Amino acid sequence: MKKYLVTGGAGFIGSNFVIYMLKKHDDIQIVNLDKLTYAGNLENLKSVENDPRHIFVQGDICDKEAVTALFEKYDFDYVINFAAESHVDRSIAEPEIFAKTNVLGTVNLLNCAKAAWEKDGVWKEGAKYLQVSTDEVYGSLGETGYFMETTPLDPHSPYSSSKAAADLFVKAYGDTYKMPVNITRCSNNYGPYQFPEKLIPLMINNAKTGKHLPVYGDGMQVRDWLYVEDHCKAIDMVCTSGKLGEVYNVGGHNERPNIFIVKKIIEILHDKVSSEINESLIKHVEDRKGHDRRYGIDPEKIKRDLGWYPETPFEKGIVLTINWYLENEDWMKNVTSGDYQKYYREMYKNR
Ligand code: NAD
Ligand code: TYD
Repeated sequence: MKKYLVTGGAGFIGSNFVIYMLKKHDDIQIVNLDKLTYAGNLENLKSVENDPRHIFVQGDICDKEAVTALFEKYDFDYVINFAAESHVDRSIAEPEIFAKTNVLGTVNLLNCAKAAWEKDGVWKEGAKYLQVSTDEVYGSLGETGYFMETTPLDPHSPYSSSKAAADLFVKAYGDTYKMPVNITRCSNNYGPYQFPEKLIPLMINNAKTGKHLPVYGDGMQVRDWLYVEDHCKAIDMVCTSGKLGEVYNVGGHNERPNIFIVKKIIEILHDKVSSEINESLIKHVEDRKGHDRRYGIDPEKIKRDLGWYPETPFEKGIVLTINWYLENEDWMKNVTSGDYQKYYREMYKNR
């Protein structure tokens, strides 16, 4: 039986990954370490709460004692690090926590894994540390071209800088100590359980509750949308089959300008929910500081080496996603109660 330490498994991608893995594999055990920040939510894990193969532990990836104790207790084969502060706008407002969690938290996990897995330069058989990173570490593209694994790192936001710094530590542990590592860099994910500070769930929630739809600047910034389940599959494949030390880019082949995404959501909700949801809700607001213009991934390497490709076309994924949010109104109500309202007012006060 393979034993996984999954961090950040109560967040958006992490919870989808835990659910995906428990469905896909019988003989695994997942210890899910999550601090439960505003972005972590045990409701995301309701469908697996009675599964004995899943053990939830509330804790901080920066906490050396707690992480060491988990390694001693469970003798992990794999660490998959999803835990992070993940929102660019928050990183512009409060960069420090991004340095702490994303950089120092990663270094702590690497140290704890090294202490548990390495003896006199020999590493535990089959062990691996997988860092879940982002295409944002590559910076911004012009009108043409794609991010490759060889593209130089050129992060712009405090968020992407912290992820790039973490990636470099992972690379350093691979290079210096021969630690068995992989890094995956994916594009923008969408799907169930995404916190409504990110573009797609924010627009769905605002449209449904009659709020305006804040499009930053001209809305012509391009993101490469990846359905979250396709991403989970890629991580599973890299974890078990990725060549040690390699970076794999994971993209959706789904580049769209933000304004297209917003109009698509309006079109679907107009038909499914109310004719009052229409383009008059769109409000172009002040642009994000340092806003990256375009991201686009060439996922050729992971396709060639591991046979992965993004299976879910955007037209299908966006309908699945919107249906999920419509069927899970209580989830949305719960995550947007309390501090969310304050955050939302703050975030958009000048926009
Ligand atoms: P998320 O914000 O939804 O979830 C992050 C989770 O990490 C939360 O459950 C939170 O409680 C937990 N966490 C935060 N700080 C922690 C700490 N110190 N210790 C333990 N747990 C902590 O993020 P997400 O969208 O699911 O992203 C997961 C990973 O994927 C992140 O590393 C992110 O950088 C990366 N990523 C995300 C996207 C995307 O589109 N969402 C794209 C590329 C890369
Ligand atoms: P986001 O979901 O925050 O992801 P990221 O910044 O990591 O790509 O934003 C996706 C795009 O949508 C990005 O170009 C910023 C833009 N955006 C808006 O126009 N309005 C919004 O309210 C939000 C949250 C994002």
